[in-house]
Amino acid sequence: MKAFIFDLDGVIVDTAKYHFIAWKRIGEKVGFQLSHEQNESLKGVSRVESLERILGWAEVEISSTEKEALLIEKNEDYLQQIDAMGREEILPGVIELLQFAQENNIPVALGSASKNATRILEKLNITSYFNAIVDGNHVTISKPDPEVFLKGAALLNQAPKDCIVFEDAAAGIAAAKAAGMTTIGMGGADEVKTADHCFDTMALIKPEFIRSL
Ligand code: BG6
Ligand code: MG
Repeated sequence: MKAFIFDLDGVIVDTAKYHFIAWKRIGEKVGFQLSHEQNESLKGVSRVESLERILGWAEVEISSTEKEALLIEKNEDYLQQIDAMGREEILPGVIELLQFAQENNIPVALGSASKNATRILEKLNITSYFNAIVDGNHVTISKPDPEVFLKGAALLNQAPKDCIVFEDAAAGIAAAKAAGMTTIGMGGADEVKTADHCFDTMALIKPEFIRSL
């Protein structure tokens, strides 16, 4: 059996709605209305890069000190929202797939752009399912660069070609492909259709499918 590498936001839990609320407020501070479509394109993109894109859309130029303040404000707002989140927000089929991995000795890593990943895993009480965690604090180049997934594979002692990546974002699928891994696009959005396989939810992924990979 191959190893699993899970993205976090949008794969394990739907945090995109909280990122959206927080970024929307930041956008409004610089006189800009962030659209749903624009928020979609921020999936998988690091916090710093997300702010840069928003400022670009808003055609606003601010100092690095002001940027730093907005990044802190955004994250405080986001953390306040996710701290109210419970286990019921874990997406369908996730716990079952993590349990399947555990029962079948399939090594599991997290490969996320988020710097809040460990806090979210703790909050959801699922940290113990992961043999390795690579998040936004451990990478120097964000997705679509393969660094986050290659580090995950290395920590699991697995060859990249033996890793299956679960991702919900275009940047993440591109990163996993660049790493030479098998890609599973989650959530059914058009932007993940380039993945090797696609599923609307993890509840639709059967053990026979995993064994066939
Ligand atoms: C990704 C999300 O997983 O993490 C992005 O899809 C987010 O929307 C990025 O910007 C960074 O997250 P954080 O928690 O470090 O702000
Ligand atoms: Mg994601």
